[in-house]
Amino acid sequence: MHFPAPVDECVLNDQAPWNNFDNKAYVAQNYLELLPVDEEILVKVGRYFSRHCESGSEGEGRPVLGIDMGAGGNLYPALAMLPWCRKITLFERAPENVAYLRQQRDDVGQNWEAFWKVLCETKAYSRHDSKWKIDFQEAARVEQGNLFKMGQRNWLGLRRSAGKYQIGTMFFVAESISTSPDEFRQAIDCFMNVLAPGAPFAAAFMEGSHGYDVGTEHFPACDVDKDEVEAALTPYASDLEMVRLSEAGHLVRPGHTGMILACGKRSSGG
Ligand SMILES: C[S@@+](CC[C@H](N)C(=O)[O-])C[C@H]1O[C@@H](n2cnc3c(N)ncnc32)[C@H](O)[C@@H]1O
Repeated sequence: MHFPAPVDECVLNDQAPWNNFDNKAYVAQNYLELLPVDEEILVKVGRYFSRHCESGSEGEGRPVLGIDMGAGGNLYPALAMLPWCRKITLFERAPENVAYLRQQRDDVGQNWEAFWKVLCETKAYSRHDSKWKIDFQEAARVEQGNLFKMGQRNWLGLRRSAGKYQIGTMFFVAESISTSPDEFRQAIDCFMNVLAPGAPFAAAFMEGSHGYDVGTEHFPACDVDKDEVEAALTPYASDLEMVRLSEAGHLVRPGHTGMILACGKRSSGG
């Protein structure tokens, strides 16, 4: 029998136990093996980035700085940006995840080979051949920080890192770091603010999540659906393409009803 997960009390981002985020447990739960839903997402993101990045003429208008916001224990969003990036910032708050990302930058784990292989069905990726791990090592920069602070203004009234990145990803972050709908929207604002106009992006969301356990800790989530995700992205995005993955095989843990993938380009508004 399936019981719905309990709804979290209000937990803001600063109140959640990020210092106790058990990276080993998270990676083991989610990324030691390639799940069908991640495969589906990767294929879509790889095709989207290929379509939007390969269309520019050689060397011109091509993204060179990429960011994966809240990278955690997941390398595949960064791998999906690799063909077009000179540098990719893996931005993350939790100490164990930061340590994991630094270690993976120096020595990419074998489990990520299956994820790269999926991307290689698209030519932009297969061109890297066996060099992809070296290319990743050269491009990846791990930065520890709080994404909400990225949106803060300095004494000149300018936002830190505003418009700095020409391609970006944010996977299972905006809705999975707080129970607050305001913080969900703010996280999207912060992500969109660091993207340059025209930057292609991919963002993934858990739908209907009531929080999640990692090791012995519980982490908060904000229960969002496709309309709420679309409403939060629309002021910033053009060419928005959204899919909802909600068949039984797409549900990776109890307490959520599906996954939402949004790909688009950062508009000049918002
Ligand atoms: C559900 S995990 C998703 C991780 C990864 N992107 C993935 O696809 O599996 C949420 C991530 O957001 C990070 N995080 C939480 N609050 C953050 C903040 N304020 N700034 C940056 N990262 C944060 C967490 O440490 C965690 O790695």
